[in-house]
Amino acid sequence: MNLGAFTLLLALIGGASSQYYDDYDFPLSMYGRSSPNCAPECNCPESFPTAMYCDDLKLKSVPMVPPGIKYLYLRNNQIDHIDEKAFENVTDLQWLILDHNLLENSKVKGKIFSKLKQLKKLHINYNNLTESVAPLPKSLEDLQLTHNKITKLGSFEGLVNLTFIHLQHNQLKDDGISAAFKGLKSLEYLDLSFNQMTKLPSGLPGSLLTLYLDNNKISNIPDEYFKRFKGLQYLRLSHNELADSGIPGNSFNVSSLLELDLSYNKLKNIPTVHENLENYYLEVNELEKFEVRSFCKILGPLSYSKIKHLRLDGNHITQTSLPPDMYECLRVANEITLN
Ligand SMILES: *[C@@H]1O[C@H](CO)[C@@H](O)[C@H](O)[C@H]1NC(C)=O
Ligand SMILES: *[C@@H]1O[C@H](CO)[C@@H](O)[C@H](O)[C@H]1NC(C)=O
Ligand SMILES: *[C@@H]1O[C@H](CO)[C@@H](O)[C@H](O)[C@H]1NC(C)=O
Ligand SMILES: *[C@@H]1O[C@H](CO)[C@@H](O)[C@H](O)[C@H]1NC(C)=O
Repeated sequence: MNLGAFTLLLALIGGASSQYYDDYDFPLSMYGRSSPNCAPECNCPESFPTAMYCDDLKLKSVPMVPPGIKYLYLRNNQIDHIDEKAFENVTDLQWLILDHNLLENSKVKGKIFSKLKQLKKLHINYNNLTESVAPLPKSLEDLQLTHNKITKLGSFEGLVNLTFIHLQHNQLKDDGISAAFKGLKSLEYLDLSFNQMTKLPSGLPGSLLTLYLDNNKISNIPDEYFKRFKGLQYLRLSHNELADSGIPGNSFNVSSLLELDLSYNKLKNIPTVHENLENYYLEVNELEKFEVRSFCKILGPLSYSKIKHLRLDGNHITQTSLPPDMYECLRVANEITLN
């Protein structure tokens, strides 16, 4: 197949997809025949016999899972409990996807997950959890528990390979997090947006590359808070309660940072950033003036800001209030949005 035809096929598949499809999905029409030892109500495609699809079936419990299955999809059912023995024949399960069910913590107790010694992906988005599930297997790499009612996290201790944690749209407050993330030495991605935190969590691993804390109630940043993240690239703190007084001068002077979102806060001044920053979002604050020194310490042939996109709309800065030497600093900017 040439590349053109392949792209067309992808486009067709894309057009047919429902709301649940993401990177590991393909549409029902491609399932073909199911292999013989599959659970009768589910589909185990002959072309992909290690996967079992049991989505959208109004299931109230986990069906029989035959040996050999590594990828199990149980999305959009009415599963409200998981028996301790549900996965006894598939202890080498790698992906377990349980989004859009009715699971509560009291009905997923015991070593259900920790017995799965090969489990890499566990998704329990859109359920009725009030705490993170535990214990978890040390093999886990990707944990998604978004859109639950989680107020408290257990410890993730010993999960040395845990790389991605999605906890957005829960009800986490500062004391519900405490030191939950301590020691997660592989953690690169943490999404805690749409929760109820008033402080930045302590003890986050220095390995983080992406940290999303937007849509909380954070009003200040501890001194040197971001210094420990040597590779942090994407930071979102939009829709919080940040004002100038809560931000120590060097807070965002982080050389690895590529994207910083501080939109929808209460800032009057533009916080100083490192010259390496490429995308800076400051819309809908109370900014009154534009100071070049927020972006460039000094101006020179080799010293300028790498900013490409800068959003300043929804503030009190106008075109005429921009200083003339601005473009000597913002030399590579290709989009600056004002009101
Ligand atoms: C595991 O396999 C055994 C033997 O085939 C079977 O009797 C049992 O029901 C299976 N357990 C589950 C939870 O599917
Ligand atoms: C579970 O969540 C659904 C949807 O949010 C809700 O309608 C239902 O009442 C919840 N059930 C329990 C037992 O909390
Ligand atoms: C963590 O990942 C590495 C590399 O993929 C693997 O060799 C190791 O066995 C994993 N550790 C655990 C506890 O699964
Ligand atoms: C930012 O931090 C660097 C050290 O990483 C330092 O040399 C520089 O002066 C700081 N910039 C500002 C504006 O304070």
